[in-house]
Amino acid sequence: MARVSEVAHVKAFMFVSIFCLLTSSVRSDTPANCTFEDIAGTWVLYETPRNGDHSIDCLNNKENAVNKIQLQLLRPNVAVDQYGNKGHWTLIYNQGFEITVNQRVYFAFSNYAQNGSEVVSYCDKTLAGWSHDTMTHNWACFQGKNMVQRSPKIHTEKRQNLNGIYVSNTELINSFNKKQKSWTAKAYSWMEGMSHEDLLKMRGGIKSKIHSRPPVSPASPFVRRQAEFLPEEWDWRNVSGVNYVPVVKNQGSCGSCYAFSSMGMLESRLRVATKNQVQVNLSPQDIVSCSAYSQGCEGGFPYLIAGKYAQDHGVVAEECYPYTGRDSACSAAKKCQRSYVAKYRYVGGYYGACNEELMKMSLVESGPLSVSFEVYSDFMHYAGGVYHRTDGLFNKINEFNPFELTNHAVLLVGYGTDSQTKEKYWIVKNSWGTKWGEDGFFRIRRGVDECGIESIAVEVTPIP
Ligand SMILES: *[C@@H]1O[C@H](CO)[C@@H](O)[C@H](O)[C@H]1NC(C)=O
Ligand SMILES: *[C@@H]1O[C@H](CO)[C@@H](O)[C@H](O)[C@H]1NC(C)=O
Ligand SMILES: *[C@@H]1O[C@H](CO)[C@@H](O)[C@H](O)[C@H]1NC(C)=O
Repeated sequence: MARVSEVAHVKAFMFVSIFCLLTSSVRSDTPANCTFEDIAGTWVLYETPRNGDHSIDCLNNKENAVNKIQLQLLRPNVAVDQYGNKGHWTLIYNQGFEITVNQRVYFAFSNYAQNGSEVVSYCDKTLAGWSHDTMTHNWACFQGKNMVQRSPKIHTEKRQNLNGIYVSNTELINSFNKKQKSWTAKAYSWMEGMSHEDLLKMRGGIKSKIHSRPPVSPASPFVRRQAEFLPEEWDWRNVSGVNYVPVVKNQGSCGSCYAFSSMGMLESRLRVATKNQVQVNLSPQDIVSCSAYSQGCEGGFPYLIAGKYAQDHGVVAEECYPYTGRDSACSAAKKCQRSYVAKYRYVGGYYGACNEELMKMSLVESGPLSVSFEVYSDFMHYAGGVYHRTDGLFNKINEFNPFELTNHAVLLVGYGTDSQTKEKYWIVKNSWGTKWGEDGFFRIRRGVDECGIESIAVEVTPIP
């Protein structure tokens, strides 16, 4: 009996799903807020025929669903299909999820609707997503539906007024410097006169707001013992006199930090894997203009770019598609060679499993990592030292500056300990040019998940 009603339900949903596949042609800029609890459970994926290639356009696909895959998504990252095959899955921040089971990979953003500042997340449904086998063949489109209907989650996006021009505030900058001794703040003349909106794009973009993040997952005793064998300090800019980190770039006023962080990781890891024989600059513009897995100048996630996009579509050299820092139609030259990644994952295996020890191990063994953190307004003024958030000044800041907390993606290149203060730090490459921070780099407190820096590291294995 359950069967009959289920079949009827499937038919009804397939109709709906075809309709949705037709209409969900929005660019996937997603304000959705779907956390682990909202997603875990039993899903049915309705999938079109598996006869596409990587050029399949799932956002405008009109085919009927012909396959039905039932999957249980369990704690912390186990996925089990209807045949009992075990695989794995991960959330991508609060945006969507990726499942790998029975030699197939499924990825979709969570469903949502937005009307002005009101966002409704339908966490029990996905937008149209992409699937292919683990060799990236036999592409199809799918939509997922949780077997248990969840009530929609509603939140209101607080948008501050971003009109107007940035003017530095000496009193405020002095107060950052008075409040603590570990880092120094200064006014940057090149920021003066930029619009608040452009500054917001520089630190993550309009869509990369902080919604929620899981606590750091403590290292197991085994991992802690392994990490004890690591060097006291590490810096990929100088490993026995050799530099594996290409020059610091400048993203300009486009929310493309995630593309710079991703290309930066691939560039450095290619150098590490080839003892510096392969030295390429890769193209963030190809990501901004061509990736359906991210939101152009409005933000995106390194997992989906350095990882998924680089595996599914490959990345091209900067010369092939030079950076303009603007959203534009994709025009990547077909003749350009593409480079791919063999493997990608969140450090620890899934979103929520990261910690300091695992990050150090991946960093030293395989090269720089994409990391993200919360940018508070004091960070924009960082000039040098070991950054931590200066608490207690934030109401004051908002009187001066419209400021929205964002998620900014950067590249982890090393770690160390301050010889005087004994403060542990990470060394991080930013994408705001060389005139910011310590020649374009910064150091930030290590071991305390400062601003979330230990919550979402991504590692990839590029194919040289
Ligand atoms: C969007 O919100 C406005 C004002 O809250 C409302 O009048 C309108 O009906 C809503 N539109 C949709 C499509 O829900
Ligand atoms: C996102 O969801 C989480 C968990 O349900 C919740 O704690 C958080 O407040 C939500 N964020 C927003 C902006 O609604
Ligand atoms: C690299 O590190 C070594 C040892 O710490 C140091 O002597 C050398 O000057 C450094 N090289 C550069 C280019 O910074």
